Amino acid sequence: METTATKPERKKVILSGIQPTGVFTLGNYIGAIRNWKALQEEYLCEYFIADLHAITVRQDPAKLRRQTLEAYALLLACGIDPEKSLAFIQSHVHTHAELAWVLECYTQFGELSRMTQFKDKSAKHADNVNAGLFSYPALMAADILLYKPDFVPVGADQKQHLEITRDIAIRFNNLYGNVFRIPDAYIPKTGARVMSLADPTKKMSKSDENVNGFISILDKPETIVKKFKRAVTDSEMEVAYREGKDGINNLMTIYSVITDKSFEEIEQEFSGKGYGDFKTAVGEAVAEHLRPIRENFDRLMQDKGYLEQCYKTGAERALQISSRTLEKVYKKVGFLAN
Ligand code: TRP
Repeated sequence: METTATKPERKKVILSGIQPTGVFTLGNYIGAIRNWKALQEEYLCEYFIADLHAITVRQDPAKLRRQTLEAYALLLACGIDPEKSLAFIQSHVHTHAELAWVLECYTQFGELSRMTQFKDKSAKHADNVNAGLFSYPALMAADILLYKPDFVPVGADQKQHLEITRDIAIRFNNLYGNVFRIPDAYIPKTGARVMSLADPTKKMSKSDENVNGFISILDKPETIVKKFKRAVTDSEMEVAYREGKDGINNLMTIYSVITDKSFEEIEQEFSGKGYGDFKTAVGEAVAEHLRPIRENFDRLMQDKGYLEQCYKTGAERALQISSRTLEKVYKKVGFLAN
């Protein structure tokens, strides 16, 4: 007999990770974490701090430990709600390293050698081209495939890693049946790439030697305003979004995201005014926007018990979900059940 009942729709799953290698910048915030927060309404979201990935380059242990906790607190401070979303720390969930090993055995030396991030990082850390740096994408594939996400929001620099994840998953499925869901990249509706304030042709980066190039989301309001006042622009005078005006374009992008104003509205607001006024306005708007985040962060760091409770619960739930996938994989490849 026909039934009219439809299956309840499964909420689509989003998953992403971020490395705990320094306080996030305004670029990380605008390009990633702000969207992660917004996605919580529509999707089932799973976010984690990728500390396993961090040790592919040498880390100071005490510093890594502190930065991992801070990165976790920052996620919550930016509005990731641990009740709504899964928020955990990668090394707390042992299935990641376990699936990574299996996937490494289904990933070819040749394809890992072609990863541009591997080539860049091995040139940069020539004294420590370790096997983990090389097999990094297999761990990232494990992070993703364990949770069967529909979408993975990643920046341009991680796109190739998502592609290899899909390749590995398809290869595995071809051998063993439908084990993994093939994830898609999530492209935000308003994609904004934030550039360095000191050199607006380069992406804003927390590893920039010039601290005036980036805004850390925990910078004090005075520091933020000061850095914006020093932002490199051009020798014209008009606040307008135009080819070749990289510095002004970058400031307009930031101001537009933070205030929700369109480029035309911004051009009008500053017509007849100089760059000085504009830079101050951008600095003040950013400082105001980040103020509650910094305050939340300070409050959370005073309450380590709460943070611990959140990341423990997160890890437990992550383990539950990911274990199902890992068990299936173990069975498929022929490990004897224990
Ligand atoms: N490699 C990512 C980065 O450096 C972080 C990351 C690790 C990640 N595992 C992931 C991102 C899984 C998305 C999905 O930015």
